[in-house]
Amino acid sequence: MRPSGNTILVTGATSGIGLALAERLLERGNTVIVCGRREERLREIAARLPAIHTHVADVSVETDRVALYEWATTTFPRLNVLVNNAGVQRRFATPPQEPWRETASEIETNLAAPIHLTFLFADHLARQEHAALLNVSSGLAFAPMAMMPIYCATKAAVHSFTLSMRHELGKRGIEVIEIIPPAVNTDLGGPGLHLFATPLDEFADAVIAQLEEGKTEVAYGTAAERARASREELDAWFARMNAR
Ligand SMILES: NC(=O)c1ccc[n+]([C@@H]2O[C@H](COP(=O)([O-])OP(=O)(O)OC[C@H]3O[C@@H](n4cnc5c(N)ncnc54)[C@H](OP(=O)(O)O)[C@@H]3O)[C@@H](O)[C@H]2O)c1
Repeated sequence: MRPSGNTILVTGATSGIGLALAERLLERGNTVIVCGRREERLREIAARLPAIHTHVADVSVETDRVALYEWATTTFPRLNVLVNNAGVQRRFATPPQEPWRETASEIETNLAAPIHLTFLFADHLARQEHAALLNVSSGLAFAPMAMMPIYCATKAAVHSFTLSMRHELGKRGIEVIEIIPPAVNTDLGGPGLHLFATPLDEFADAVIAQLEEGKTEVAYGTAAERARASREELDAWFARMNAR
């Protein structure tokens, strides 16, 4: 990906990995647009970083995705990079005791949204110079944690979808990049659940460095090991992670 001079939309950038990447991309001379559901957070970010652009959008809602695409491409006709980062992680005892629409919202956010946004933006991106599509999957795409079965299944699907898009959209000049984080210390799944994990700044700096090297599979720490592991190694990962 070109390091600077891009116009970049990052979904789910009111906190965590999305915001940390947005800040670094802004510092490097890119035009950056961040979105999320929490308007108050977006206002705070705009006050702290006056050069950033913000937009309220709930990517789990189909009409919001279409509205985001129309607003972003009309307001920023030179938008050339889409980062599908928004995600939620839900832990539950199987089967979850809730209406299906609540269960399905995790699939809508983590999987339907990146697929739909990719398809919405594909033709627009194909007309731009230095176009790129970045999808955020997870080390859990390769060996799941059983207490978060939908999360892990959506991330495995994002990994698969990204491989297909690299093949298909690569033909149209769009560089397709997968970011594969290990556990990172953010509020994912709820505050305090990731305190044990890789510090956010360390991870975000490593991602930017790998993007600047031109990598299209940007994995870090144990996620890099899992992304390249054999089936036997992944079975061992699964057994260790789910041993209790
Ligand atoms: N942290 C980890 O250990 C880890 C590991 C592997 C992969 N990842 C992935 O990294 C990405 C970012 O997660 P994070 O760790 O930075 O967690 P986070 O701090 O909770 O950030 C998640 C972001 O997604 C946004 N979001 C959630 N649902 C949304 C929706 N329906 N519409 C729009 N935005 C939405 C949230 O904003 P609002 O609440 O304002 O909408 C927030 O900005 C996710 O895809 C996650 O799966 C994280």
